[in-house]
Amino acid sequence: MITFDHVTKRFDDGTVGVDDLTLDVPEGEVVVLVGPSGCGKTTTMRMVNRMIQPTGGTLTVDGQDVMTVSPPQLRRRIGYVIQQVGLFPHRTIADNIATVPELVGWDKARTRERVKTLMATVGLPDSVANRYPHQLSGGQRQRVGVARALAVDPPIMLMDEPFGAVDPIVRALLQDEFLRLQSEVRKTIVFVTHDIDEAIRMGDRIAILSQGGKLEQYDDPERLLADPANEFVADFLGAERGLKRLALIPVSEVSAEPGPVVFPDDDRAHAAEVARSYGTDWVVVVDEQRRLRGWVSLHELDGRIADANLRQFALSVESTDSLRAALNAMVTSRTGVAVRLSEGGLYEGIITQELVSKEIR
Ligand SMILES: Nc1ncnc2c1ncn2[C@@H]1O[C@H](COP(=O)(O)OP(=O)(O)O)[C@@H](O)[C@H]1O
Ligand SMILES: [Mg+2]
Repeated sequence: MITFDHVTKRFDDGTVGVDDLTLDVPEGEVVVLVGPSGCGKTTTMRMVNRMIQPTGGTLTVDGQDVMTVSPPQLRRRIGYVIQQVGLFPHRTIADNIATVPELVGWDKARTRERVKTLMATVGLPDSVANRYPHQLSGGQRQRVGVARALAVDPPIMLMDEPFGAVDPIVRALLQDEFLRLQSEVRKTIVFVTHDIDEAIRMGDRIAILSQGGKLEQYDDPERLLADPANEFVADFLGAERGLKRLALIPVSEVSAEPGPVVFPDDDRAHAAEVARSYGTDWVVVVDEQRRLRGWVSLHELDGRIADANLRQFALSVESTDSLRAALNAMVTSRTGVAVRLSEGGLYEGIITQELVSKEIR
């Protein structure tokens, strides 16, 4: 949908903002540009809608060289959201959202209907429609910015640190809602951030840039974390790269082990046998329907399992949870393993640290 082919931006004073950038943004995907301050993220993004003119190479949008399309025509197909939102302070929220529809000549009824729909879409209550920007919270203003950019349903969205100005809790909420919204609208999105965790969370693909707009690596988050191209990328991803990667891998990727399982009717001798074969000193207890009852240490077991004082696993995981959640479950249980349950709560097996580290290696 958007292609950079050896694109360069050299400013009048000689500063090279972007250097020989080649990158494809596929239709319907979120591509995140990430890198330290001044590495050329904003410059790269602004060349797409010609707020900045490239000085070399070719940049196409939907097959058309941007230099051959008039900026207004180009921008009609490209929504633009920035961190400081840039709302008009003396216009109401509804009027702000209606900016582009009015510009392109929609009639009043259609515009009013669209504003109402968009406010609902981005999670703004009707009651704020007639307020002014300063009467809203930072998070609400950011939603207005997104609604305004979506107004005429452009196929492309450019978002420059859109959640940079709000506190971490609101930010996480906006990220969640963005992902939900994107799963419905499937826009082609270029998203700029300097926060690698946000990039990993939001991006279908991530472009890591260094000073001078140099592309260091372009990959999906999992591959980036698994196999950084160089020292710069590895440093930028941070020391907890392994943990970040675990957060992206679902539990379903590893096959759970059956585990040392016994039933309530079993006795201590059998439990000891099962535990020994697994190299544990505890057993998992499930009933005939394979519902999880808990676990028990051999040291606390003398007669039948049914009479034992069972301990509970504080946390368990399902197939759609991440391996990071599984690891968290492991470190909070004295057994050192995570139990995996089906959606209906039936016992499916255990996940061990060995399984997880094998997967990550
Ligand atoms: N109009 C300009 N004239 C000269 N240099 C500029 C101009 N705009 C940006 N730059 C420089 O280009 C580089 C990239 O800037 P920018 O794209 O804003 O970085 P980022 O968004 O990654 O923080 C920086 O060194 C910045 O100082
Ligand atoms: Mg910037």
